[in-house]
Amino acid sequence: MYHIEYRPQTWDEVVGHENIVKGLREHLADEKTRVHAYLFSGPRGTGKTTFAKLVAKELGCNEHDVMAINCNITRSVEFMRESIIPSLNYRPLFGSIRFCLFDEFHQATKDAQDALLTPLEEGCPEHTYFAFCSTEPEKIRRTIRSRCAEYKLRPLNNMQIEDLVLWVVESEKLELDQGVIDVVVKEADGIPREALVFLNMVKHCKSAKEATDLIEYGEDTADSDLRAIARELLGAGRWVVVKNAYEKMKDKNPESIRVGLCNYFKKVLVGAGSKKQGELAFFLMSQFLSSMIDNTAEADFVWALYECCRK
Ligand SMILES: Nc1ncnc2c1ncn2[C@@H]1O[C@H](COP(=O)(O)OP(=O)(O)OP(=O)(O)O)[C@@H](O)[C@H]1O
Ligand SMILES: [Mg+2]
Repeated sequence: MYHIEYRPQTWDEVVGHENIVKGLREHLADEKTRVHAYLFSGPRGTGKTTFAKLVAKELGCNEHDVMAINCNITRSVEFMRESIIPSLNYRPLFGSIRFCLFDEFHQATKDAQDALLTPLEEGCPEHTYFAFCSTEPEKIRRTIRSRCAEYKLRPLNNMQIEDLVLWVVESEKLELDQGVIDVVVKEADGIPREALVFLNMVKHCKSAKEATDLIEYGEDTADSDLRAIARELLGAGRWVVVKNAYEKMKDKNPESIRVGLCNYFKKVLVGAGSKKQGELAFFLMSQFLSSMIDNTAEADFVWALYECCRK
């Protein structure tokens, strides 16, 4: 999956956002004045997690000292109080900095967010840093938000997306028609992750037409196990059926199954014949809207599947 393999590992590999990169690096360079909390906001797939990880790296944090918390899953105040806050005082295990990365932080409950205020304000040990990522920063408590250095990641322009696509095309030695590349750039609509997911889909396409069909129709919706899951969720929702179909797809990336399911439900929603069917497709789609990457991807995915069966 290109969008995982080609996550920028250095600032030089980041496409676009020149001013943010420059400002951030200058800010981080001054140990005395740099803040301990960073907020990256922006639409899905625009680089929030990438930036947070680069900040950790720039601070010299060992990757094993990065604690990543997905607030889609763990959002309760108990979790913050019992697991996160006490751990802030521990010394880092591998290096000199501990880094807490909260993904989709706006999903943490109000109380859970408030619980972080004290450590952010005063109780924060010198070696602890925070990064919050969010697609909906306006839902983050103002008190928290005002204590962060906030960076807004906007979609890239088509030229920048093309640069990104060409970087991967060259590294992978793909032989692609310019027409196919143009389709990827256009369909990505400024979102770097989309560009790389689409590129992966169309890398064997011979023409722009073939690429457009594939992207718009969706590769995975042609997959029979995926259809079995989607149909079961739209129907009886028996966990055992869903689970068995999922087991057969184990070697697939959860992210690509997610995108396939999402597209499937989208089609059902658009073509829904009744309010009830529409509502159901809407609910199912909502469970698969957030991307599932990083080390909890599989857990996120199974969680969403099970949640759908409980409907
Ligand atoms: N500015 C960029 N330059 C190069 N690649 C990028 C850039 N932004 C994103 N990408 C690519 O897109 C992928 C997804 O980015 P990332 O996971 O950081 O997005 P995100 O904003 O955290 O998404 P989400 O909202 O789903 O959590 C990266 O792994 C990388 O391949
Ligand atoms: Mg992210």
